Amino acid sequence: MIGENVPPAMCYYTKLEGSGGKCRTCLVKVTKGSEKDPRPMPKLVASCKTAVMDGMEVRNTTSPDVLDARKGITEFLLINHPLDCPVCDQAGECKLQDLSYEHGLSKSRYDFHRREFEKIDIGDKIQLHMNRCILCYRCTQVADQLTPERVHGVINRGEVSEISTYIENVVDNDFSGNMIDVCPVGALTDKTFRFKSRVWYTKPVNAHRNCPKCSGKVTLWYQGEEVLRVTGRKDQWNEVEEFICNDCRFEKKETNDWIVDGPADINRHSVVSKNQFTYELPVLQKQIEQSNMTEQ
Ligand code: SF4
Ligand code: FES
Repeated sequence: MIGENVPPAMCYYTKLEGSGGKCRTCLVKVTKGSEKDPRPMPKLVASCKTAVMDGMEVRNTTSPDVLDARKGITEFLLINHPLDCPVCDQAGECKLQDLSYEHGLSKSRYDFHRREFEKIDIGDKIQLHMNRCILCYRCTQVADQLTPERVHGVINRGEVSEISTYIENVVDNDFSGNMIDVCPVGALTDKTFRFKSRVWYTKPVNAHRNCPKCSGKVTLWYQGEEVLRVTGRKDQWNEVEEFICNDCRFEKKETNDWIVDGPADINRHSVVSKNQFTYELPVLQKQIEQSNMTEQ
């Protein structure tokens, strides 16, 4: 409702119940509580967990306290996060990368060892790189709320917390791929796409198919005529519009599998949007024709 200048959010996700309240990046200053009780709130509050009241007055980037706190939170989040953006598949779509551009320091003040974990394969399609995880809990909420059984969670406390419970063996349900889409950083990546291309070299195109398991509405990420990956469609807040099944995500990588709707509009704050008007029109036309022929 307040337009483009919304507070950043690393853990809140509209479609996941109980999300938010963990990362503290969305702190704002409430200078007037409400019409009834105009007292200001004594501390900065997490905007994702604060109910809006009639007459409430909220300061976001106009408050030096908020900007200062956001700087501190960014520094904390980056204490353990490796600065491996040049080789990370999430680069260009990473919320932490955006956050650190806007609120980060140019160097780290942290002298100690960062936590280190072995990479874990979650089944044959997803890889967990725990070094990059910021413990936002979104992926565990996807597992909890989209799939029939709880399959993984966060174990241990503090510095040794990790996403686990022998997930290599058990995350094999039809909707597990959505964990990749909700992960704000590069901790959960699509093994079928890893290291194939930088995301800003690919062209997002919306497409759909008649899928018995999900809405079948996706974004195809093309390089030339090849579909490099399939993801859920995202809105301007970078949240998935409708969760998709693993068949659509991992098994349908041919243009023939889809009815192409047209270029995806990436109007959110992302380096990907810089590429969207450079579609090679003949290539897109061919993709649409090819998918229409399949439809007939
Ligand atoms: S793996 Fe990604 S989605 Fe899961 S808790 Fe870590 S940062 Fe969040
Ligand atoms: S988005 Fe509000 S605390 Fe994380």
